[in-house]
Amino acid sequence: MSKMPLKEVRVFSPATVANVACGFDVLGFAIEQPGDEIVVRKSDKPGFRITKITGDDGRLPLDPKLNTAGVAVLDLLRNLGKSDVGIEMEVHKKMPFGSGLGSSAASAVGGAFAVNRLLGEPLSRRQLLPFVVAGEAAADGAWHADNVGPCLLGGITLIRSNAELDVHNIPIPENLWASVIHPDIVVLTKVAREIMPRHVQIETSIQQSGNLGGLICGLFQSDYALIGRSVHDLIAEPHRQRLIPEFYRAKKAALNAGALGFSISGAGPSVFALCEGEKVARTVAQAVTEVFSAVPIKATAYVSRINPKGVHVLSES
Ligand code: HSE
Repeated sequence: MSKMPLKEVRVFSPATVANVACGFDVLGFAIEQPGDEIVVRKSDKPGFRITKITGDDGRLPLDPKLNTAGVAVLDLLRNLGKSDVGIEMEVHKKMPFGSGLGSSAASAVGGAFAVNRLLGEPLSRRQLLPFVVAGEAAADGAWHADNVGPCLLGGITLIRSNAELDVHNIPIPENLWASVIHPDIVVLTKVAREIMPRHVQIETSIQQSGNLGGLICGLFQSDYALIGRSVHDLIAEPHRQRLIPEFYRAKKAALNAGALGFSISGAGPSVFALCEGEKVARTVAQAVTEVFSAVPIKATAYVSRINPKGVHVLSES
């Protein structure tokens, strides 16, 4: 029996933690919550339109050419030779702007994934990578797949080369949990990238490479102690920590509460800890939230396993 063409698709596109301390621009993982919801539907009127955006405090433009999800979809449709197909999209933002949770990546991935599904999946998930990276690049002006990779493919992804989009899934240790805490301030990725050092000392590069290799080995071997010894960032964190009030106090609280490691999620201000087991992850989330609350800054914690699925369909008809 041939499948009926779809009229409408609703997808969930998860938040992601990029860099994972030692993997600046080359490592990221997806979490269970929060995540954007994107709805696409066929329309009799030719061409692609964004008809509604919610949860963005009026910040995001409806013009697809100026919107990360729109840029990804327009690029995809052009490449498929389907720019004239009538498609409407709604973007329901469930995570804050400038949060370090991969918000623009989630919209770009959700949009392209949903439209590809609506069109009968002419492309595989992996083949959507160039379009979603282009969508995210429209937001921060940089070409990196450490948010879109895990959002699209799920789990933990290593980007061997951003230029070639050589992206690989890394095994997820069974009892690995993440605590991700979002302090309610805004850090623009563009600004956080501008304060990165242009050069690093060879000794720093050697240590960072050792840690990245150690983390990947630890993940492959479910060696939690090795993961803990490796989750250190000697390149971005020393510069970006000043964008996050009480960063080192929060880090100390997380490590004292049993975290394997703690650092900045993507460009910040969200921070994350990797933990062995749910109980530790919840204790760490509580300890870090208390540090921010004392500033006082409102903080929201998300505790989850690594999300193996990535973007997925919620409903379709
Ligand atoms: N790797 C990127 C950065 C992630 O840290 O700038 C931001 O989305």
